[in-house]
Amino acid sequence: MKVHFTADLPTDGALIVPVFEGALSTSSLTDLDARTGGAVKRGMAAASFTGKSGQSLTIPGPAEMPDAVILLLGQGKAKTMGAEDHRALGGKAFAAVNGRYETAALTLTGLGEAGLETAAAAAHVALGGRLRSYDFDIYRRKTKDTDKKVVEAFSVVTASSGDAQSLFAVEDAVAGGVRVARDLVTEPPNILHPESFAERCKDLEKLGVEVTILDEAKMTELGMGSLLGVGQGSVRGSRLVSMLWKGGPADQKPVAFIGKGVTFDTGGISIKPSAGMEDMKFDMGGAGAVTGAMHAIAARKAKANVVGLIGLVENMPDGNAQRPSDVVTSMSGQTVEVLNTDAEGRLVLADVLTYAQRTFEPQVMVDLATLTGAILISLAHEYAGLFTQNDDLAQALVAAGEVTGEPLWRMPLTKAHDDMIKSDIADMKNIGPRYAGSSTAAAFIGRFVENDTPWAHLDIAGTAWTDKDKDICPKGATGYGVRLLDQLIREGYE
Ligand code: BES
Ligand code: MN
Ligand code: ZN
Repeated sequence: MKVHFTADLPTDGALIVPVFEGALSTSSLTDLDARTGGAVKRGMAAASFTGKSGQSLTIPGPAEMPDAVILLLGQGKAKTMGAEDHRALGGKAFAAVNGRYETAALTLTGLGEAGLETAAAAAHVALGGRLRSYDFDIYRRKTKDTDKKVVEAFSVVTASSGDAQSLFAVEDAVAGGVRVARDLVTEPPNILHPESFAERCKDLEKLGVEVTILDEAKMTELGMGSLLGVGQGSVRGSRLVSMLWKGGPADQKPVAFIGKGVTFDTGGISIKPSAGMEDMKFDMGGAGAVTGAMHAIAARKAKANVVGLIGLVENMPDGNAQRPSDVVTSMSGQTVEVLNTDAEGRLVLADVLTYAQRTFEPQVMVDLATLTGAILISLAHEYAGLFTQNDDLAQALVAAGEVTGEPLWRMPLTKAHDDMIKSDIADMKNIGPRYAGSSTAAAFIGRFVENDTPWAHLDIAGTAWTDKDKDICPKGATGYGVRLLDQLIREGYE
């Protein structure tokens, strides 16, 4: 979809006019009413259109716009809108016209009171439209609805079109990263497995990212028994990929983003029930977010050094799979009693964390993982769980989430949780007792942090996927985390 900004009204397609309750005489409505010989006001009266949220009204365009229709979209009571509302407006406007028109324009003229007449607002509105327009259709053949008109051009009508265009260029680069993450999460696991995922990461080289792929031989040499144990039941080879973006000063230590990339999680020998197992293709959502974030950061040429590291494995039951009660030795040298092969994400992250620290000496680490079902019990789909003992990092992440509308809720991570993963036979076990499963999982990862490197863990099991359409995300993979990580870099490291 092409997105652009213009000061002029369109001559064809849909002209979307947001209308607030009690504000039926904005300059834009008055102007369109005059051009249509009074049809706008008469139409509103005839249909009892008052601007209530969810109301919409289609009116034929004026004579000089013969192929256009005017679409009034009710916004509810007038209020001051923030960036998140602006993005939501763009998303909702896109959804209102997609399937019906090939071109659409959304006018912000006369909506200064809602904060919609600035260049930044226009850019956010466009970003919302862009993010909502995501569609993964490469495997839809027969069911393709050829009558359906897909929006191909989406414009935002604003007096500050020039400035909006340049602000949007940055946002659109980031939206490209969200698309990368959504694509990766949506791909079926027969297509996207550790080997093919690693190959796809090489696409980032075009943006100037240094991509390094470690195969099983290399990881065996490095002693990554924890990660390799998870992948040993799969016919696919496990991989570790690092993606380094050097946009900052040569002496700046990188920020490390680390992602869980279980391309399919059957549970292994501790096999999951079959009902719902298909959801586990999303178990590489952390790795998808990290890859998408690296795309975003490189595409907008961030002035910071950032490295993304992802551990890619497939967790399968097999004659060669690891067993509950196996003891594995991690790259850090610490041993782990694997009591449940379905608690595999932490085993993967352990070795990626060690490799990240020994290779890149990061100034800070943030890992993202669809790690526990328990985080869904705590936070449903509304927040990702944030675990860290570093208050500054917690604050920076929560703030970034508020800016991007990817909210985080801080959860406890204490010595008590660490005590719950003591093992009788090894340095630790990979599961805790029944309760606080998200915190004991975080405590496990925490054991692999060296030299007090600031570290935070985000459990995104509830936020990486949505079963229903959201304002700026159609149902399916959300790309949660991409804009959050990008914002963390923007605000704190460049
Ligand atoms: N990938 C799952 C976490 C998950 C479960 C995400 C359900 C979304 C929905 C993870 O690997 C897992 O299986 N975790 C176990 C841990 C348990 C065995 C300690 C879980 O949450 O049940
Ligand atoms: Mn699992
Ligand atoms: Zn998993």
